[in-house]
Amino acid sequence: MHAHIVIAHPEPASFNGHLAGISQQVFGDAGWQTTLSDLYAMEFDPSEGSHHYNSRKDPAVFHTQNEQRHNADNETLPQEVALEIQHLLGCNLLVVHFPLWWFGMPAILKGWMDRVFVYGRMYRSGMRYDSGICSGKKVIVCVTTGADRESCAYNGREGDTQLHLWPVLFPFRYLGFDVYQPEIFHGVGGAAFIEGSEGGLSTLEAYSGRWKETLETLSSRPLIRYNRDEDFDETKKLVSDAPVYSPFVRHKPDAI
Ligand SMILES: Cc1cc2nc3c(=O)[nH]c(=O)nc-3n(C[C@H](O)[C@H](O)[C@H](O)COP(=O)(O)O)c2cc1C
Repeated sequence: MHAHIVIAHPEPASFNGHLAGISQQVFGDAGWQTTLSDLYAMEFDPSEGSHHYNSRKDPAVFHTQNEQRHNADNETLPQEVALEIQHLLGCNLLVVHFPLWWFGMPAILKGWMDRVFVYGRMYRSGMRYDSGICSGKKVIVCVTTGADRESCAYNGREGDTQLHLWPVLFPFRYLGFDVYQPEIFHGVGGAAFIEGSEGGLSTLEAYSGRWKETLETLSSRPLIRYNRDEDFDETKKLVSDAPVYSPFVRHKPDAI
């Protein structure tokens, strides 16, 4: 078995770095092969663009998906992208660590998706969702927030972190992954922490233990439910009696 771990944090000594270390240790101890993409340490360039492609289908106009497909077909993708694809296609489980930054993922992680989820190689019209290339693989994201649990609840001032994470997780579903319910650790290193919170370190210790336990019992963790392909008609609209799982898909336009 192979776990690929991705971390998007500029500081290896951060709590996120510590959690990624636990991921490596748990799967290593269990006899799995583990690989790590530490995006900042790799100086992964998150900005997709013409400068990455020596071979061009159209040297005059850079059309991202055309050039991605052209370079995938010709095996001329940038080396760092090809390596990430190899990890994604080789692993059974993907573990992604990041801090919540402005209610989403850090830009380096979004850019990793922009560049690594290559059109023509990782997805195309007949190869996505239920037929995605990563069908049968699983992913879990482990997220820290500076805000506390109450602020990040369904009725909290910051908004529901579970909802903020929906668009972050959906690209993995798009590629075919089964997506575990995310692990979210609140009240880590944010304003309250910096300004002096009581019991901060013991909280981090408890979180570390919880993360270890999460990984050790991962196979029994619930998956996020998504609509299946057959829940949509030939015009790609939700059929009238289909269930709704996504906050972005609904039967009535004003049902928010
Ligand atoms: C650019 C930036 C944006 C942030 N945005 C949020 C946010 O939207 N919500 C939140 O709860 N915390 C936010 N924070 C706080 C981080 O989530 C927090 O510092 C991090 O989870 C702590 O983990 P670490 O100790 O591993 O860095 C932000 C921090 C930075 C630097």
